[in-house]
Amino acid sequence: MREVGSLRLLVIKGKNANRHIFTSCVVLFLACFGTTSSVECPDKCGCTTTTVECVSQNLISIPQPLTLNITTLLLNGNNIFSLSEESFPVRLEQLTNLYLSGNRIEQVDPGVFNNLPSLHLLDLSNNKILNFSPDAFPDHSMLQVLNLSRSLYNASYVDVVSDLLNKSVPELSHLILSNNGLLFLPDSIFNSLLNLTTVDLRNNSIVLIKSGTFRSRALNYLDLRDNALKRLLNGTLADFDQIPGLRLYLAGNPWHCDCNLGDMVIWLQRSDLVADKMNLTCAEPTELRNTQLLKLKDEELQCIYSRDMKSVLETSYVFLGMVLALIGVIFLLVLYLNRKGIKRWMYNIRDACRDHMEGYHYRYEINSDPRLANLSLNSDV
Ligand SMILES: *[C@@H]1O[C@H](CO)[C@@H](O)[C@H](O)[C@H]1NC(C)=O
Ligand SMILES: *[C@@H]1O[C@H](CO)[C@@H](O)[C@H](O)[C@H]1NC(C)=O
Ligand SMILES: *[C@@H]1O[C@H](CO)[C@@H](O)[C@H](O)[C@H]1NC(C)=O
Ligand SMILES: *[C@@H]1O[C@H](CO)[C@@H](O)[C@H](O)[C@H]1NC(C)=O
Ligand SMILES: *[C@@H]1O[C@H](CO)[C@@H](O)[C@H](O)[C@H]1NC(C)=O
Ligand SMILES: *[C@@H]1O[C@H](CO)[C@@H](O)[C@H](O)[C@H]1NC(C)=O
Ligand SMILES: *[C@@H]1O[C@H](CO)[C@@H](O)[C@H](O)[C@H]1NC(C)=O
Ligand SMILES: *[C@@H]1O[C@H](CO)[C@@H](O)[C@H](O)[C@H]1NC(C)=O
Repeated sequence: MREVGSLRLLVIKGKNANRHIFTSCVVLFLACFGTTSSVECPDKCGCTTTTVECVSQNLISIPQPLTLNITTLLLNGNNIFSLSEESFPVRLEQLTNLYLSGNRIEQVDPGVFNNLPSLHLLDLSNNKILNFSPDAFPDHSMLQVLNLSRSLYNASYVDVVSDLLNKSVPELSHLILSNNGLLFLPDSIFNSLLNLTTVDLRNNSIVLIKSGTFRSRALNYLDLRDNALKRLLNGTLADFDQIPGLRLYLAGNPWHCDCNLGDMVIWLQRSDLVADKMNLTCAEPTELRNTQLLKLKDEELQCIYSRDMKSVLETSYVFLGMVLALIGVIFLLVLYLNRKGIKRWMYNIRDACRDHMEGYHYRYEINSDPRLANLSLNSDV
């Protein structure tokens, strides 16, 4: 029994050994094949036939050389700080997806992507862009997805994006501009993008959406959550109504629930465009904080301004009354304390008056006595 057991064990070991040899052969074969087909796999990168991946390798430039039929290039988390015409010296006909998230890119020169005619997705999120040439893309760029999430050096550089979108990427359908601290959207920033379907502007500080900003009829996803919007004006609401399949996200904004919000509340109640309309709440005034916009009644939407003015006026009237009363009391008190002096003063005045009047009286009597008239005439001479 024991011998049979050990024999079986031996057989199994043999099989294992065979399998081992087989796998080593496969590995060896793959390695040999691999070295022949990926002659061009750069240092610090992992390559398959169509993907080159060099993530978090402290690279400071695009690794070279790249396989010609590469479709996806992942370079996230390196230290690349600029892209120039030399970044892609060889034409990569099939490269569609380029990931450059989490680098230190400040500068994107003209012509950078000229050798990437099929570029479809460009992820430049988490960089520090100061300058992005509108000529970075070739004519007839095929770019459809552009990720610029937390990508700008600061919000002042929004014009860089505006210029880029104006004429360089006509086929763009997905634009991610979240986390950039944007305060406003430049006029007609999206107007050249006729195929725009998705715009993500979440977590900026946008205070106003001007009417005319969103006109692409293809738009079906617009994320404006976590911005600084206090209200949407009639013109903007009318723009949204013109876009047939739009889904709009508006939660996380500090809605200002006063008389100016009435139009928007009515619009919200009848419109299906706002996907998260249940989640919109007032931030001001304090009495209405956290109230759902949908549940606001018309009479609650008062203008803080007039209410404030009224109470200010009321308090100022009360104050004025109190001051006047005080002055009156003080006046009376002074009169009372000075009553003797005042009495004396009045007597003095009375006496003075009397003397004066008596003087008149006397003179009148003299003037009216004809016997004394001559006398006075004579005395004048
Ligand atoms: C990519 O190109 C290499 C040679 O450069 C070739 O061996 C391989 O088959 C190509 N792969 C594809 C998917 O075209
Ligand atoms: C854009 O980049 C951010 C940050 O890297 C990422 O979280 C997000 O998923 C990306 N969006 C798209 C559509 O690729
Ligand atoms: C953006 O950076 C520039 C240059 O450093 C600076 O002058 C400007 O004030 C900054 N703008 C904002 C909004 O922080
Ligand atoms: C877009 O470019 C055209 C000319 O190509 C120019 O007239 C227009 O003002 C630009 N718009 C913006 C928003 O930059
Ligand atoms: C929102 O954007 C700011 C940059 O403007 C960033 O610092 C912050 O982390 C972002 N918040 C979230 C939740 O992503
Ligand atoms: C937009 O998309 C349509 C169809 O999806 C396509 O025919 C057109 O060329 C695209 N580009 C522009 C700029 O309209
Ligand atoms: C906004 O539009 C509504 C009807 O669509 C109209 O009744 C209202 O007066 C308008 N409000 C302003 C401020 O123009
Ligand atoms: C509303 O907010 C809640 C909690 O923040 C969230 O779970 C839910 O998905 C939101 N609803 C919509 C439609 O976005």
